[in-house]
Amino acid sequence: MTTSVTCGKDRESDPSGPPQTQYGWPHQGNRNRSHVAGRPSGSCFVRSSHRGNHVAKLGVSPWRLPLVGNAWHLLVHPLTFLRQQRELGDIVEFRHGNRRVYFVNDPVLAHEVLTGQRANFPKGGPVINAARALGRNGLSTTTDESLHHRQRRLMQPLFHHSRFPAYIAAMRETVEEITSSWREGEKVRIDSVAYQISSAVLSRCLFSGKLGSNATRDFMTLYPSVVGGIGRRATLPMPWLHRLPTAANRRYTRDLATIHRVTDQLIADHAAGDETYDDILSALLEARDDDTGKTMSESQVHDEVVTLISAASETTAQTLSWALRVLAKDTELDRRVAAELQGVLANRAPRHQDLQELPLLSAVVSETLRLYPPLWLVSRYVPNETELGGVLLRAGSEVYISAFANHHDAELFPSPEVFDVTRWLPGAPTPGRGAYIPFGMGTRKCIGNEFALAELMTTLAIFLQRWRLSPQHGGRLSKPKVAFTYGTGPFTLVASQRRSGPPEH
Ligand code: HEM
Repeated sequence: MTTSVTCGKDRESDPSGPPQTQYGWPHQGNRNRSHVAGRPSGSCFVRSSHRGNHVAKLGVSPWRLPLVGNAWHLLVHPLTFLRQQRELGDIVEFRHGNRRVYFVNDPVLAHEVLTGQRANFPKGGPVINAARALGRNGLSTTTDESLHHRQRRLMQPLFHHSRFPAYIAAMRETVEEITSSWREGEKVRIDSVAYQISSAVLSRCLFSGKLGSNATRDFMTLYPSVVGGIGRRATLPMPWLHRLPTAANRRYTRDLATIHRVTDQLIADHAAGDETYDDILSALLEARDDDTGKTMSESQVHDEVVTLISAASETTAQTLSWALRVLAKDTELDRRVAAELQGVLANRAPRHQDLQELPLLSAVVSETLRLYPPLWLVSRYVPNETELGGVLLRAGSEVYISAFANHHDAELFPSPEVFDVTRWLPGAPTPGRGAYIPFGMGTRKCIGNEFALAELMTTLAIFLQRWRLSPQHGGRLSKPKVAFTYGTGPFTLVASQRRSGPPEH
């Protein structure tokens, strides 16, 4: 086994790795190294390599119950369970009912699953099959890799830099509209406001605002019940349970059908109008495949609309809630970010090009995504027996990779429970390959990551320019909620004015 020390200043470059983001935001690193064996003082990483003859350590999860296997522990205490698995090996086998699942704990092996060996680990299996009831053949849930490749090529231009000034203008208008009614001492339910902002931003960018606002609201109202149903189907390994005529099952079926109906209606209204729109839906309807010249089928457009709303809303809202909660508790950090904003923007609203001039705000967002990654688990399927790190994974099994577990690993991030923005400030070492994965990795990596970062930075900037949000006197912050996403749960902050009036444009 080889060991090497890598410091911030001698980062290797890997042309196949993901590019640096627009806002100088560091993605998962690109060193050709394996799992971290320890870390010396200062900011260097010490790594050991799986290359050569080293075989990954395979563990077996011990807390197995009859019928449910280890699923009970995963359902009841998911985050504790994930951390315990970490102690057992680089790859840990456990049972989800009668399903065989491998937790891939080693970040380099996780990188291998999602990039180098991705053909052996496609999307599929029970988790994705349950999610397909909503996303169908959309980008996130399609199991047809060639369709995915085509769709990804068609949809990438939606996230081209040239579209960002318009997106950011929509983000600005949304936040200003929503916060314009706040008064000094206003008690704000932050989790609801964050959700309201992310849905309204999406509605503005996807469907030119007004047209989509009712539909998006209906969609978002039903979304939690549908996602709850999908979660139960993905995690409770008893399919017969979900066919019983219970109130929960009936509600799930009804709400799912309504979401699909609302989406169809929205697309039909958009197409029927005389107006031309410069929005994402128009771009989806007009996108043509370079090779065939064909546009997407109606059902594909439907699936992509459902996918974008589902993938973008809750994740971004949860991150915004977490960031505001951190800043409410850390008055010194809040003051420093407000000072950075004042220095760069004075009283002006942020524009696209400003975002890269705000390293502290960017670090707050990166660190929030590290400590509180909304998508805390991703899964892949193993259709054929496959070797990973020298361990044979059985055909028909699943692989789970957890951003939460990686991000809370003391060997990858020293003092992992501390919210430490210096990890992301200029000059800090880049995390090792596969260590920092809030947006996933490889060809199925989040297509909206830049959009999410821009929205988070823009929203936070406008909030912090105008408002100081503090915990209520004697008020307690809620317990985090782990479901499909990792969220703050409901909580209220009190808004006091830093200065009056909306930012100048
Ligand atoms: C903080 C916010 C967000 C987080 C943490 C997040 C996280 C992720 C992660 C981890 C994946 C990969 C899942 C996997 O490998 O199985 C993913 C995929 C995806 N995300 Fe996001 N996401 C966010 C915001 C957004 C936004 C704003 C959009 C769209 C505007 C979006 C659209 C998508 C889509 C379409 C996919 C599927 C990509 C593919 O399979 O090619 N996400 N996201």
